[in-house]
Amino acid sequence: MHVDPLEKKWVWIASIMVAIMLGSIFYTAFAPIRMHPPSNVEAIDSTQLHLSEEFAEDNLGVKTNPDGSVTVTVVAGRYGFYPQEIVVPADTPVKFRFATPDVLHGLHVPGTNVDTMVIPGYVSEVNTVINYDTVAKVAVKDGNGGLRVPLYCNEYCGLGHHFMWSRLVVTPKQG
Ligand code: CUA
Repeated sequence: MHVDPLEKKWVWIASIMVAIMLGSIFYTAFAPIRMHPPSNVEAIDSTQLHLSEEFAEDNLGVKTNPDGSVTVTVVAGRYGFYPQEIVVPADTPVKFRFATPDVLHGLHVPGTNVDTMVIPGYVSEVNTVINYDTVAKVAVKDGNGGLRVPLYCNEYCGLGHHFMWSRLVVTPKQG
């Protein structure tokens, strides 16, 4: 069977592209990098967030648990994250819990593995330990050793999407 040399070349190029894509899937699945699929499925009535205990305005933000770990409750709504500034300690287990009262949002914090979708009707949970030195590479330092990084929306959610961000301040671990 005769195959045109140009056609042969493109068979190779297409095969290499497929191999690279499959390779990257397997790499992210098995390599020892900190990448986790979403861990929980938890439903919530998005229209009633303000009436829920956890996501009511007064109860948002950072709470320190008896074991020293930290839980952060955040509402992602058009067009901002509430509260607008979140202060968490580095090198400490942190559980982020996000919910949205309106549409689909995304959420990403540079220098960390915090990256999730926030889907109406569900609570998105991210469990992580934020490494001070890793965040320091991309953060702006304030006077007290705190590292400021943006926490921004990475799913298109409407006209104000590009302005949807708030601030995460990572403080050095105490003691
Ligand atoms: Cu919220 Cu884009």
